[in-house]
Amino acid sequence: MKDATTVTDGIPAQPGPSEPQTGPRGDGAEVIPGAGPVVGPGERATVRLRDGGPEEEPPRYAPEWLQLREVADAAARAQDLLDPLRIRQADLPAREGGAEGLVVHDLGCGTGSMGRWLAPRLDGPQHWVLHDRDPYLLHFAAVASPRAAADGSRVTVETRRGDVARLTPDALTGASLVTASALLDVLTREEIGTLATACVGAGCPALLTLTVAGRVELTPADPLDAEITEAFNAHQRRTGLLGPDAVTVACEAFSERGATVRVHPSPWRLGPESAQLTAQWLRGWVGAAVEQRPGLREPAERYLRERLAACEAGELNVVVHHSDLLALPRPAGGTS
Ligand SMILES: C[S@@+](CC[C@H](N)C(=O)[O-])C[C@H]1O[C@@H](n2cnc3c(N)ncnc32)[C@H](O)[C@@H]1O
Repeated sequence: MKDATTVTDGIPAQPGPSEPQTGPRGDGAEVIPGAGPVVGPGERATVRLRDGGPEEEPPRYAPEWLQLREVADAAARAQDLLDPLRIRQADLPAREGGAEGLVVHDLGCGTGSMGRWLAPRLDGPQHWVLHDRDPYLLHFAAVASPRAAADGSRVTVETRRGDVARLTPDALTGASLVTASALLDVLTREEIGTLATACVGAGCPALLTLTVAGRVELTPADPLDAEITEAFNAHQRRTGLLGPDAVTVACEAFSERGATVRVHPSPWRLGPESAQLTAQWLRGWVGAAVEQRPGLREPAERYLRERLAACEAGELNVVVHHSDLLALPRPAGGTS
């Protein structure tokens, strides 16, 4: 990992569209695999830091999109994976300098939604190390960091800017847990292998949530649903990213390295109360499908128009399937 940065214990503030946007921005018109919505003029879902090609700058995720999905993400994550995790943490001998309690590394933290969800669900003092390659998102994550654990213990955070695809076991020395949310599907097979090697090498459990499963259910159904799903999935797999294959690849990677792996469904269930998120998601989902298969443009325009109208009328329900994964390696230096 490179570029260790700020240490802070947070100021309670939510990032959002109303906050001043201090970072550089592009026009937001392009589709980035796995990044969520395609945007209309004046909106942005993902932006590039500069006008150069993808090899020059990785995609940048708009905080507005991450904020929009935070409630649905929180409702979707699998609570059932927390008990095995708590049992594992309770079984471990207290670490040296135990006053710090759990040390949690959140990879690809974005604006920090995973910490806001998980920290108040775990007991005891916690120190979160928030990793992302985007310094702008790290800033949002730091100022809106969680303050208290389930039992009221103190939660502190620090941010680390860098590429999580280069994580090493050394970078996780002393870590109690690695987390990620909506990250695995934008990694490659090799990058997931590196991540698994780092976690298993450090004997550190990993809770990797909200990886797309490549399946969606729209009610009422439309004959074009299946073709758009297929084209979207193909779009996600472009440039070697795993998209809907990520959970299978991650399960194999952790299992091959000796970890015990559990997977649990974590679907978004979007009804009339989630109309804004559903509409944004639809634009991105259909837009990516059309970018992948330009021949779909005309029917997809009709499809999107009707879907958005149904959404606005409160007549559309969508289930977007995801999976959460818990990997429990043998503790470093342990015998069990
Ligand atoms: C879909 S967003 C999810 C953000 C956050 N975890 C959430 O659930 O709201 C993916 C995040 O991973 C970060 N990211 C993607 N690939 C990365 C990499 N190789 N190294 C570091 N960060 C990465 C992006 O900058 C972005 O913040």
